Amino acid sequence: MFHKGFFKGILGAGVALTLATGLPAIAQETVKVGLILPMTGASASTGRQIEAAAKLFIAQNGNKVAGKTIELIVKDDQGTADMSKRLAQELVVNDKVSILGGFGLTPLALAVGPVATQAKVPAIIMAAGTSMIVDQSPFFVRTSFTLPQNTTPIAVWSAKNGIKKVVTLVSDFGPGLDAEKSFKAGFEANGGQVIEQLRAPLANPDFAAFLQKAKDLKPDAVFLFVPSGQGATLMKQVAERGLAQAGIKVIGTGDVTDDDLLNSMGDDLIGMITSHNYSTDHNSPENAAFVAAFNKANPNMRPNFMAAGGYDGMALIYKALEKTGGSTDGVKLVEAMKGLAWTSPRGPISIDPATRDIIQNVYIRKVEKKNGQLYNVEFDTIPNFKDPTHK
Ligand code: DHB
Repeated sequence: MFHKGFFKGILGAGVALTLATGLPAIAQETVKVGLILPMTGASASTGRQIEAAAKLFIAQNGNKVAGKTIELIVKDDQGTADMSKRLAQELVVNDKVSILGGFGLTPLALAVGPVATQAKVPAIIMAAGTSMIVDQSPFFVRTSFTLPQNTTPIAVWSAKNGIKKVVTLVSDFGPGLDAEKSFKAGFEANGGQVIEQLRAPLANPDFAAFLQKAKDLKPDAVFLFVPSGQGATLMKQVAERGLAQAGIKVIGTGDVTDDDLLNSMGDDLIGMITSHNYSTDHNSPENAAFVAAFNKANPNMRPNFMAAGGYDGMALIYKALEKTGGSTDGVKLVEAMKGLAWTSPRGPISIDPATRDIIQNVYIRKVEKKNGQLYNVEFDTIPNFKDPTHK
């Protein structure tokens, strides 16, 4: 009849508090948030970034919201969908979490959807970017980005900046296929032509043969998408194939020029143009404060776009709990999340009430060296851009 935390509060510290202050013990109730992240394996950097950002948000804002105490639980799914699903079930049934979040890759998010729907627990997508994920459960709300949202601006920009023929090369899974389709749509609608569409496997990719094929086709540019963590391997092979020497430009989404790895990619990247929702270099007071605090708490890490998704995911949870007055009813929380808007380190963002997906600025950026370090420097903005493929 009563929530477990109620008895715990009454029988534990709550009794002393009630006697000492007269405050009701219910005020001590804990709201558990379960993050399911790849902390090991090929996408471990995504997990590390999101965990660091979520912990930073709590450190900055306190662990109390609307009279409740927030408890963060982080679980490692090792990047496998079976594990994501099992962890989601355990978090809901055993730990009694009120909210799930994380999901480092599209297949991992998709595995959790049915659990969220059945348990009526909000599931905040802080990383995965395939457009259709939010359609798979009414309890999904996204604070990351979608590939149609992040790709369309570079497609339009390329067509308007002298690039006429492009070969696309993407990772062969959900977000890569979204990127491939959106690039072609945006580029061809503005007069360009995609002459070949290449797909590399997601696991242990060797890009050399694909890049050679792209080079042999003599396009004006090659468009690239790989998930966070693979950009350095890809760009090393791009340099080895000598695309620049052959007069072929390299463009992509910001997943490729990931801030987490950019400094290790070398000066060959200077001048590369991408579109994306977040850059460590974003010029705003909110971002300067975020980057400084993130660096202080994690001395050897630069916050990347995954960190932005995790930080804003926690902001969304806090704002929704404030709106529900601390109620953890899943339906009420999702309703409270719809339409929320605030200024993130990446700029203004909001949750589209119709799709539960994020609306945000997408920036056109160029890799430049500043103070001896490589950055994605934003030079154009597509404001409040929705995923153009959502109905
Ligand atoms: C996805 C994962 C990434 O690391 C990324 O950069 C973009 C999309 C995904 O699985 O949806």
